Amino acid sequence: MNTKVTIAGVTLKNPILTASGTFGSGQEYAQFIDLNCLGGVITKGVANVPWEGNPTPRVAEVYGGMLNAVGLQNPGVDVLIKRDLPFLRQYDTKVIVNICGRSVYDYLEVAERLKDQPVDMLEVNISCPNVKEGGIAFGQAPNMAAHITKEIRKISKHPIVVKLSPNVTNIGEMAKAVEAAGADAVSLINTLTGMKIDVKSRRFALANRTGGLSGPAVHPVAVRMVYEASHAVNIPIIGMGGVMNAEDALELMLAGATAVAVGTANFANPTATVDIINDIRQFMVTERIQDINELIGAVHE
Ligand SMILES: Cc1cc2nc3c(=O)[nH]c(=O)nc-3n(C[C@H](O)[C@H](O)[C@H](O)COP(=O)(O)O)c2cc1C
Repeated sequence: MNTKVTIAGVTLKNPILTASGTFGSGQEYAQFIDLNCLGGVITKGVANVPWEGNPTPRVAEVYGGMLNAVGLQNPGVDVLIKRDLPFLRQYDTKVIVNICGRSVYDYLEVAERLKDQPVDMLEVNISCPNVKEGGIAFGQAPNMAAHITKEIRKISKHPIVVKLSPNVTNIGEMAKAVEAAGADAVSLINTLTGMKIDVKSRRFALANRTGGLSGPAVHPVAVRMVYEASHAVNIPIIGMGGVMNAEDALELMLAGATAVAVGTANFANPTATVDIINDIRQFMVTERIQDINELIGAVHE
């Protein structure tokens, strides 16, 4: 049975990754799961300098998932290089570093510092709804998304995955813009902008007022957008959004994803990724599927 998939020349032992921001750099989860089992780890977004993130409260539970407005709190790329990459490199799994910035310059500085580091791919987050500058501003205008992709492509040796926002009218147009600018793959979806209000106190549940919706509630949106993006571009797609079990992951693959990242599910069940990998293998046995690649984009009428 083959569970290997390839994205931009990088072969993953299976298609299951951890979604950025829900797994740190794996240190805490290594107590619960064997990181060697994962197709890869996508690290928490990292900027050129440390970011404090947003004021609290910054997470709230909602029907079918959660809202977060963490605001990309991170210790900066130097800490990732010194502390997190050596930790992750002990394991036989691929390492995808998620990068963020408030300006094109910020992104380029991170990419520059990671240029000679043992990283398998960069995931460029142009879609965070919780930071005022940068982030989503790049992810909602095709020309800006293309510009930042082109600039990073010029300086980085690593394959570049551009992470797209679902908070757009036409996901296919965004995917096409970054493909034309040199992206090696796209990942989607980031969170959907939402809001929660406490009716007794009449206050916003989040200090930031709005936050990103994730979890099972967003899954059908993710399936639709992965399907649309896969028909718009020829580069591979990393699908994510509300994947709670193997069936959800397989659904994204049938819609067109080559690999799948698991996010919010990790908070409810720290072994979610490994459970999903095992259940996909079981599905392949019972359905007599020899090669997981047969499933990619295999949905039909
Ligand atoms: C608490 C939290 C923090 C996140 N931080 C990041 C981040 O740093 N960079 C990024 O690209 N996406 C970030 N995301 C988005 C996830 O990677 C993922 O795209 C989204 O949550 C949808 O997947 P899910 O429903 O499986 O969580 C974050 C999500 C959550 C819930």
